[in-house]
Amino acid sequence: MNAMTSSNLKSAFGGESMAHMRYLVWGEFAKKEGFPNVGNLFIATAYAEQVHAHNHFRELKDQVGDADVTAGAGFGLTTTSENLQGAINGEKHEVEQMYPAFMAVAELQGEKGSLRSFKYAIEAEKTHITLFSAAKAAVDSGVDYDQDTVHVCNVCGHTLAGDLTDSCPVCKVGVNMFKTFVTEAVCAEA
Ligand SMILES: [Fe+2]
Ligand SMILES: [Fe+2]
Repeated sequence: MNAMTSSNLKSAFGGESMAHMRYLVWGEFAKKEGFPNVGNLFIATAYAEQVHAHNHFRELKDQVGDADVTAGAGFGLTTTSENLQGAINGEKHEVEQMYPAFMAVAELQGEKGSLRSFKYAIEAEKTHITLFSAAKAAVDSGVDYDQDTVHVCNVCGHTLAGDLTDSCPVCKVGVNMFKTFVTEAVCAEA
């Protein structure tokens, strides 16, 4: 594998791994703040980032050994609105800066598998911007996100809220290849 694509895959693996963990933390925080559907959205999206990290790692299967990984990471745990903004900022960076550059290099270097892995990720990150933006609009008006069901494609990480009726628009697998996340019912406090 060409060194620059290898390095880009490792960086993307680092970024997706950290996004996965960050969304789990922000998801638990959202639930505690009284936004269970936002919590569910974060946890489902964390799974999508796990799918991307997994795809990138698989592409690196022949790159045995240690490597230093440099990847952008967002921090902060203040309010769910700010956490959602942090998530949107991170996704936008990936969609507008990181993945287009990584894809251009992979294409130039003829790295087809890596190109597909980056392509799957960038398409899913676009859906994440849309979902997080809708959730932030709700939270900023004082209510929970109105969707309690989120589906994530196990192959490419494509993410959608509401009803799942069609095969994946990105990687074309059937609805049986999606993992579904539903907001857990919360017992009312006595
Ligand atoms: Fe994402
Ligand atoms: Fe897919």
